[in-house]
Amino acid sequence: MSKYLATYSAWQSDPVGFWEDAGKQIDWVTPATSTFNPDSGVYGRWFDGATCNTCYNCIDRHVEAGHGDRLAVVYDSPVTGQVQRFNYGELKDQVSALASVLRGLGVEKGDRVVIYMPMVPQAIFAMLACARLGAVHSVVFGGFAPQELATRIDDATPKAIVSASCGIEPGRTIAYKPLLDEAIDLSTHKPEACVILQRETLTCDLITGRDHDYAVAVDAALAAGEGTECVPVAATDPLYILYTSGTTGQPKGVVRDNGGHMVALKWTMENHYGVKPGEVFWAASDVGWVVGHSYICYGPLLHGAATVVYEGKPIGTPDAGAFWRVIQDHKVVAMFTAPTAFRAIKKADPKGALIADYDLSCFRTLFLAGERSDPATIEWAQAKLDRPVIDHWWQTETGWAMSGNPVGLGAFPIKLGSPGKPMPGYDIQVLDDEGHEVPAGTLGNIVCKLPLPPSGFPTLWNAPERFISSYMAEYPGYYATSDAGIIDEDGYVFIMARTDDIINVAGHRLSTGAMEEVIGAHPDIAECAVVGKADPLKGQMPLGLYVTNDGTNRDEAELEAELVKLVRAKIGAVASFKCAVEVKRLPKTRSGKVLRGTVQKIADDEAFKMPAAIDDPAILTEIKAVLVARNLIGHIA
Ligand code: COA
Ligand code: AMP
Repeated sequence: MSKYLATYSAWQSDPVGFWEDAGKQIDWVTPATSTFNPDSGVYGRWFDGATCNTCYNCIDRHVEAGHGDRLAVVYDSPVTGQVQRFNYGELKDQVSALASVLRGLGVEKGDRVVIYMPMVPQAIFAMLACARLGAVHSVVFGGFAPQELATRIDDATPKAIVSASCGIEPGRTIAYKPLLDEAIDLSTHKPEACVILQRETLTCDLITGRDHDYAVAVDAALAAGEGTECVPVAATDPLYILYTSGTTGQPKGVVRDNGGHMVALKWTMENHYGVKPGEVFWAASDVGWVVGHSYICYGPLLHGAATVVYEGKPIGTPDAGAFWRVIQDHKVVAMFTAPTAFRAIKKADPKGALIADYDLSCFRTLFLAGERSDPATIEWAQAKLDRPVIDHWWQTETGWAMSGNPVGLGAFPIKLGSPGKPMPGYDIQVLDDEGHEVPAGTLGNIVCKLPLPPSGFPTLWNAPERFISSYMAEYPGYYATSDAGIIDEDGYVFIMARTDDIINVAGHRLSTGAMEEVIGAHPDIAECAVVGKADPLKGQMPLGLYVTNDGTNRDEAELEAELVKLVRAKIGAVASFKCAVEVKRLPKTRSGKVLRGTVQKIADDEAFKMPAAIDDPAILTEIKAVLVARNLIGHIA
């Protein structure tokens, strides 16, 4: 029998008491004066008045409790053939020494540190070292190009940057250092110091006076016995800034606090993921995304569990059995990944034959999130693994699942296509465009009644007005998620689409507006539109439509190649921008707004309603013909 309903009701009847109780799992330096202060911040602040340290709760308290020998971090890297294990005692030494190095470079409480790293354990050491000092980290995903990194450097104004000589993708080594140097050249703000991890695969030159060799500096700090104490911060102080795509090229700096974040993540480890301290949890994501922050770094360690840092892919490193090998080798009890990873495995090994080669007896549950889980993928995973497959829905803004199926409380029956029911803390509603609640089963805008629970973002870094205008203004009293969906008569949530210009490519959240800014800057382009076209592997892929300037007579293939190269250079490989198509005109409303939604439907070969405000309906037929000619869609209806 699931305890979900009783738990959700307990939260509904006493929301503050619920989180006060959950807060007992955290070691505070000084307790909160108010578990929830409705008068602080935009919608209130959690654990107001408390002081704490996130690194202490992730590491030191476990060592002090006698668990220094317990496994904390496993680094498994099929791309370099390495496996390394760190217990909590060793993790403390590494993090404390790196914190000492950073402090020596001038990093103090409240300073920002940008982390631009591949999937190596030093990436999470760096996050934790910042937390130890009370500094604010901002991790930038390694797949982003220098311009994107520069934008984040200028917004976060870091005192230092921690990076590495290279990242390793299957079949290619990516020299990170030239990307970092270019980003620092492009940015107006210049960090005082960079700490660079030299990797054997490809080392790099260091700039005298600015760059410091990670290993040399940390080894010296260790040899000198230099440690660093955990600096107390206010529970409401920022732990990190994580930039996420908005509707323009300027990303949004989502701010996460210390206290509420710890309370919420600790609660989820036991109750949502059903994991016990001492067990191994694996989130096969990247530290550059929120999943990596919450469940590669902070969640498992707050809980005294072990986490896996996996530098590999679901397929090709070396084959579609990679996930099963990691589960077997490290005795993973629960794993978390994006559905796209399972679609890739299913495509490469449709019968799931490789599963039989591994001992998965320790493995209990698979969790999926990051994009919509198509029922076929869930059914395949359920059948092949013979284990529960739990879809859950969340966003960078919340830091943990808004809806899910809490395994630790006893899972309730799964409905395919639904990421479960609202988690305690979230009063999720579906509203029409005028802000009225819609009947069960009706598609609408998904919103969450304020206040957000602990870990919910209190603001956007350097952009308090954008925080209000993007999230709080449209439906007063509610957080607008920008997702559209349904809540059915049994209370199950279904997430169907974004209501803004964000697309989801292989579980990565990308801004079509940012891509349009890059394409629009090409000298031959008059105007353009980027939409997300349905893709069987990555969920969506960006599709660019462009109109050239009058008098331009460029070879289409050549121009397309230039645009593809430009997006890769300006945004990064992660954009997966591979296709740009020339059209004569873009469809617009009479007021000049490009009808991206209709273009997307055409690109997906779906039926669409002629928009009432369309300026010239003939343009839609023209676009359809161009997409058919390019074999991007099948037929002209
Ligand atoms: N540094 C540099 N480049 C990176 C990178 C990194 N950390 N991560 C990805 N890239 C590159 C890839 O090499 C790829 O380059 P290419 O166009 O030259 O092939 C490009 O960015 C797109 O990456 P991605 O969309 O992740 O696809 P992929 O080719 O690496 O394959 C799949 C990924 C399809 C196997 C997919 O199943 C997968 O695992 N995606 C990641 C899911 C995920 O972690 N989501 C996060 C939310 S939980
Ligand atoms: P991110 O902030 O990068 O985690 O992306 C958040 C967005 O991903 C959400 O707003 C959704 O559009 C989408 N998303 C995340 N999880 C799910 C899910 N389980 N089902 C459907 N969409 C999801």
